[in-house]
Amino acid sequence: MISPLELSDLAIEIAREAGELARRRRAEGVTLAATKSSLADIVTDADREVEALIRTRLTAARPDDGFLGEESGTGSGTSGITWVVDPIDGTVNYATGIPLYAVSIAAVEGVGPDDWTALAGAVNSPVVGEMFSAARHEGAYVDGARLRIAEAGEAGALLATGFGYDPSTHAGDLEVVGRVMPIARDLRRGGSAATDLAYVAAGRLDGYFERGLQPWDFAAGALLVEEAGGRFLRPEAPTIIRRLCLAGSADLVAELERRILQET
Ligand code: IPD
Ligand code: CA
Repeated sequence: MISPLELSDLAIEIAREAGELARRRRAEGVTLAATKSSLADIVTDADREVEALIRTRLTAARPDDGFLGEESGTGSGTSGITWVVDPIDGTVNYATGIPLYAVSIAAVEGVGPDDWTALAGAVNSPVVGEMFSAARHEGAYVDGARLRIAEAGEAGALLATGFGYDPSTHAGDLEVVGRVMPIARDLRRGGSAATDLAYVAAGRLDGYFERGLQPWDFAAGALLVEEAGGRFLRPEAPTIIRRLCLAGSADLVAELERRILQET
């Protein structure tokens, strides 16, 4: 049986090649291929090409594994392992020339984000030049240096969030922001959920919250946070239609959950 470390090595190798391709295509100029759920939700030709590269490499290395990708959908496997892939997380940043975007690749066991166990993950930030990785029970790293989450200090928590592409949900997102600002030192909206989660794992951000993330946005980043000693949580709340993701230290996640879900 393949170990989480071997899966993580494979994720790193493929995320590196995919990141180089994304970067090269960006330098050549971006072509918008389509809009998805809304006008703001764009997909570029590069998203599709990068995902195709990742899928080809994974199929060659691990033909019996399943696949779940943002652009090309699902492929079933027989090994019990599924690769969950976001070829370019932060597509709007990518398309507009903001350098914060990432390739996110995770290997998970089990079906669906509520039941799966993440085994390995890599988040490559190709413009910044950082490769975040984690293997289950083996820790989280950035370019070989061990990661450890931060505990918010007296000045309050440095938090990050994101807003979905559907303008009709923005008022609700801002209401959520209002609920957590009393404990925040400041708030970031970087534009790449995978990178936000990697930064929580690295202790650069204290915490992160966002409604409506997709599995490929958080599969690798959630493992990074957990392997860096933190907590990643998707609380069930009947009144929150867009499922909430929380990350940070166990204490901070509990506080964010309490504040956000209270009277929602
Ligand atoms: C998006 C980014 C963004 C988050 C959105 C995601 P995409 O992913 O992670 O930070 O706020 O919810 O959809 O579309 O750029 O791959
Ligand atoms: Ca994404």
